[in-house]
Amino acid sequence: MRARILGVGRAVPEKVLTNHDLEKLVDTDDEWIRTRTGIVERHVLGPDENCSDLVARAGAEAIARAGLTPDAIDALIVATATPDTVFPATAAWAQPKLGLRNVPVFDLSAACSGWLYGYIVADGLICAGTSKHVLVVGAEALSRALNWEDRNTCVLFGDGAGATVIGPNGDPRSGLLAHTWGADGRLTELLYQPAGGTRMQASEETVAKKLHSIHMAGNDVYKHAVRAMQQGVEEVMAKTGASVDDIDLFIPHQANIRIMTAAADRAGLPPEKLYVTIHKYGNISAASIPISLADAEEEGRLKKGDLVLTAAFGAGFTWAAALFRW
Ligand code: ACO
Repeated sequence: MRARILGVGRAVPEKVLTNHDLEKLVDTDDEWIRTRTGIVERHVLGPDENCSDLVARAGAEAIARAGLTPDAIDALIVATATPDTVFPATAAWAQPKLGLRNVPVFDLSAACSGWLYGYIVADGLICAGTSKHVLVVGAEALSRALNWEDRNTCVLFGDGAGATVIGPNGDPRSGLLAHTWGADGRLTELLYQPAGGTRMQASEETVAKKLHSIHMAGNDVYKHAVRAMQQGVEEVMAKTGASVDDIDLFIPHQANIRIMTAAADRAGLPPEKLYVTIHKYGNISAASIPISLADAEEEGRLKKGDLVLTAAFGAGFTWAAALFRW
């Protein structure tokens, strides 16, 4: 038995910030952002919304699209790098909003690889008989972790959540067919939020130096990202013996259109098999793949039986790739 995605859901805040809006905040322009990243606009949270609100909205939609009710969900995993609070988990804040009672809920911190890590964990829980239906949500409130004076980072990210109900599947030819995942903790400082945890507590100095925001060595991340995506794709293809022709849709983590195109090219995948949502959401880290799944299904780009390839990389440095049948 391999676990399968039974339903998907999506939630983004109402407020949209375009590249032109950003031109008023920092020294940047629409042309630079579009050509270097592929981003046109992104959604950002309003003052009264939190990451857990997005989890609840996307999760409720995924449960409904799976044809289930909340009482069928027996575990909740929220993959996020921008939790409501350091503790308790964002999953705990979201649990009552979702109407889930007395089930295990926890956060998973693997940055942009978070949703894929969550799917792999859920597959393990389901195959071991520990859980039956696991709600795995990738959700981010990245606008709250940005330095809005730093053009190197503030143009790149957005807020949103993508949710998936993962459940049992009787057909061994569908569901999660192969995965690979890994991390290299020696690269933590390429991309991180220095302050706010216990390593560097909040102080007047950390606030003044904006150390509670994302710090990123963009070019180094770029190089590692392309390599990690390529390696992940090659590994899952080799594990299953799948060929490029077998793949119906490639949904990589949406960090930068150039990284995605390079990954597709290196795998020999034609452009029409690459699914892109970065233009409308920016980089939404753990939410980018599940939101893309929800959009692709809605647009009729994903049909039952399709072979889907996904790959991600993120802070940590983490990476993961998976091949699954829809
Ligand atoms: N507007 C205008 N100019 C800018 C902007 C901006 N928003 N940002 C940077 N520039 C300038 C730089 O200052 C630099 O100017 P200089 O040559 O005078 O010094 C110039 O543009 C080129 O900068 P580069 O950093 O070389 O630009 P590059 O083409 O590498 O693109 C980018 C930068 C988009 C950040 C790219 O490196 C990238 O996408 N890296 C990967 C980032 C990523 O994927 N991060 C997310 C990881 S996922 C996670 O875990 C959250």
